[in-house]
Amino acid sequence: MKAGKIVVFGSFVVDLTSWADHLPVPGETIKGSVFKMGPGGKGSNQGVAASRAGADVTLVTKVGNDVFGQTALEFYKNENMTTEYVFVDSEKETGTALIMVDEKVGQNQILVVSGACDNITRYEVEQTFSLIDSAEIVLLQLEVNMDAIEKVVDYAHAKGKKIVLNTAPARKLPVSLLQKLDIVTPNEIEAGILTDMKVETEADAEKAAQILMNSGVKNVVVTMGKNGVFVMTPKRKEMIPPMQVKAIDTTGAGDAFNGGFVTALSEGKDIFEAARFGNAVGALSVTKIGTAPAMPHRSDIDRFMRDNT
Ligand code: RIB
Repeated sequence: MKAGKIVVFGSFVVDLTSWADHLPVPGETIKGSVFKMGPGGKGSNQGVAASRAGADVTLVTKVGNDVFGQTALEFYKNENMTTEYVFVDSEKETGTALIMVDEKVGQNQILVVSGACDNITRYEVEQTFSLIDSAEIVLLQLEVNMDAIEKVVDYAHAKGKKIVLNTAPARKLPVSLLQKLDIVTPNEIEAGILTDMKVETEADAEKAAQILMNSGVKNVVVTMGKNGVFVMTPKRKEMIPPMQVKAIDTTGAGDAFNGGFVTALSEGKDIFEAARFGNAVGALSVTKIGTAPAMPHRSDIDRFMRDNT
């Protein structure tokens, strides 16, 4: 069976990442150990994860007319990803994310300024309509301007496309948007913000998923880090266990999951199998430093899944 096309509509930002043996508290200056600059942004990371996992994927994003924007274009060329839908803003700068990683526990703090990709215009969204027409799945996140997200969702919904929304960074969403979504993929914190509750256990995840489904979302996938992934459809629910690896940097693990998840969906796997595949992609991504550059390739994913099931 030929895999369906995926459109990822989302952010590109440059990740400026520093590692230290603990994270500073407000007002504190600490010395770190390593600094790295590299391609990031949830949309771009998810597009790269899908591309490396073997998907037929096109990324729609926006950068500034600056050095960081050039970094994005060069990176996609090296990844053999098309830059046809990488729009360039004439005024706003390319977005950035200041990331601090606690190297002892692998935890991070991220301050993202979306910049150019927070300024995707109505006209640019309209330019993606023929691309969306040719796709089976549209994957979005919440790191670009909301009016563009809503316009893409409206169009994709009207055309009967499968819409997957990774609800990151977390924010409350209108029911009118939720009702058009086939699948939402919050992590436990985002699931909590969307449903006004604390999500820590499988029972919490189930309750939050039910609330989201009552609001009109068709299926819910709650990623719960080292506790696994909770998947709920109208007919079945399952807690998918995590895959064991030695994590050295968990930044971008959710993006890896989402990229892998939609890749498997586009290959015809059901939502539970797709979550297992996404789990494997997420697990492999945390064994390397960085976000997009840490995304695993298909041969490594297949080998890892063979060796661990
Ligand atoms: O999900 C990780 C990503 O979030 C980082 O690459 C950073 O750019 C932020 O957008």
